[in-house]
Amino acid sequence: MLGLKLLTDPRWANIAESNLEEILTDHAWCEQKAASNAISLITQNSEHQGLVHELTAIAIEEMQHFQQVIEIIKRRGYTLGRERKDDYVNQLMKFIKRDGSRNTAFIDRLLFAAMIEARSCERFRVLSKNIKDKELATFYHDLMVSEANHYTTFLNFARRYTIDVDVEKRWKQWLDFEGELIKSYGKKEHIHG
Ligand SMILES: [Fe+2]
Ligand SMILES: [Fe+2]
Repeated sequence: MLGLKLLTDPRWANIAESNLEEILTDHAWCEQKAASNAISLITQNSEHQGLVHELTAIAIEEMQHFQQVIEIIKRRGYTLGRERKDDYVNQLMKFIKRDGSRNTAFIDRLLFAAMIEARSCERFRVLSKNIKDKELATFYHDLMVSEANHYTTFLNFARRYTIDVDVEKRWKQWLDFEGELIKSYGKKEHIHG
């Protein structure tokens, strides 16, 4: 699925469903971080008009996802907890190349974003197929579709804007790296946990 090397064990969905307040809190912050990431890409790469345009739409959409999640939290009488650390994303961030050209760093930032979208999409799929809560299963199915589109957008931007990066080769390296990294996860009630 989306080139991912390792698929999530469906039993992770049971862990997630055992603590809905926690998974929803973590999820809300994932959406907020996705919006922030899109905004920072816009700020740092404003010379690319197409990117500014599409990432503005993505930032808005991610905040709409945030809004949907906090509404579910409120309706169910839960509380949105403090921002949760995303260890998986922090580990992925270390793989971004920072010692090359500006273009190299830019393309890697796009691939980093595509990687998170791909895994988030896969996790939403696992949730939508395995949790017993019907409302949330439908919600996660819709989000799966949305994050798949974001994945495609980021990967295509990398292909469009590359100057000196072999995007297909570098993307394979990202998939390999992520495939190893994700082996340590799947045990916690977090979207990337
Ligand atoms: Fe989202
Ligand atoms: Fe997204």
